[in-house]
Amino acid sequence: MQKLSIQGGYRLNGEVRISGAKNAALPIMCASLLTQDALHLDNLPDMHDVATMVKLLQQMGVQVDTSTQAATFSAAKVDKLEAPYDMVKTMRAAILVLGPLLTRFGEARVSLPGGCAIGSRPVDLHIKGLVAMGAEIHIEHGYIHATAKRLHGARICFDLISVTGTENLMMAAVLADGITVLENAAREPEVIDLADCLIAMGAKIEGAGSDKITIEGVSELHGANHSVMPDRIESGTFLVAAAAAGGNITLTGARVDTLDSVLEKLREAGAKIDVNADRINLVMSGRPQAVNVRTAPYPAFPTDMQAQFMALNTIAQGSAIVVETIFENRFMHVQELQRLGAQIEVEGNTAVILGCRQLDGATVMATDLRASASLVIAGMVAQGETIVDRIYHLDRGYEHIEAKLSSLGAKIQRIQ
Ligand code: UD1
Repeated sequence: MQKLSIQGGYRLNGEVRISGAKNAALPIMCASLLTQDALHLDNLPDMHDVATMVKLLQQMGVQVDTSTQAATFSAAKVDKLEAPYDMVKTMRAAILVLGPLLTRFGEARVSLPGGCAIGSRPVDLHIKGLVAMGAEIHIEHGYIHATAKRLHGARICFDLISVTGTENLMMAAVLADGITVLENAAREPEVIDLADCLIAMGAKIEGAGSDKITIEGVSELHGANHSVMPDRIESGTFLVAAAAAGGNITLTGARVDTLDSVLEKLREAGAKIDVNADRINLVMSGRPQAVNVRTAPYPAFPTDMQAQFMALNTIAQGSAIVVETIFENRFMHVQELQRLGAQIEVEGNTAVILGCRQLDGATVMATDLRASASLVIAGMVAQGETIVDRIYHLDRGYEHIEAKLSSLGAKIQRIQ
């Protein structure tokens, strides 16, 4: 199993280019199932989840021609309307094939995602929405089996805000008969990116990016070209790394407008930040100030940045309160950070961190994608060597992270 060896204590300096967003790429790749024409995507990140999605679509009969950071998807001959357990269990986002398969082919079998390291993460809202649109759904042998002659439009109000739930129902609605209104919809930028791609394919969608999305179904979609938006979580991760380790870095190809809450917190921590078009420059000298964080749906502070800010707080001046409101059990990184000497107390969904001057390198284990990123950041500020084990989590959702951090001056190496 591969690990990362990190020597702490090096400042970050230089420029790094931001990759395409995992959470936009995955739903948009699933949108290729909605048409028999070719969908050409650019700026696809090179990471395991994208490769898993390519494999899943290929298993269904989608023809995929890949080149560097781009791919063309042709779903002219789809012959297997199924997402099997072994794929859904490694990548929950595989649930995103449910809406497109059902609305175009009238049937889908998708494995239930099952347990997940960051909480139970059910898919009841996806199912409820599809039933409201006329689907018949049975859970059998651990699979969601959905059928519908043709889905029809419906008014659907989400009980709670779900990103992939919004995306799945939006994709189902684009080929449904009539008008669908999604209320209390997710406002994440990745939902807008998916909507933009669907609109380029001929869909009629209004309101993406607000909490009310209206979709008028059409009888068919056509091919399109789309460039996947830059990854705001990768952007935030590099910025937090530089704020914790100190230095002067510039992100290029970033989407500044998607990072408001993260940039605000970094400024509060003492970072000097300048933005210019798609470039973000961060300068950090001295020790960061502790910052309180409360996760909530976009545009509030993202749960996918919680673990990285926890790492920053471990070496900050003062104490911080971090509240996780989206996922239960998303504090798995805490006990690993404690192995590095961090002082953290957890009570329910709240963590209190007392910043210390220095962490001490140790062997730690990655437990989920963003927890892994927090351990890498902690390793970069710890004294001596930190070994991060189980980095397959990191490889799922970051493109060449150790190469990118090394190019900024971090001492980080992949070992067997
Ligand atoms: C997406 C992101 C993930 C991010 C999360 C929250 C992708 C591929 N993944 O995950 O990186 O951390 O949004 O920003 O885009 N819920 C239910 N029933 C449902 C669906 C969700 O109870 O049917 C609950 C979840 O357990 C969770 C909350 O709703 O507590 C939000 O989850 P959701 O927005 O659906 O997360 P994902 O879309 O899975």
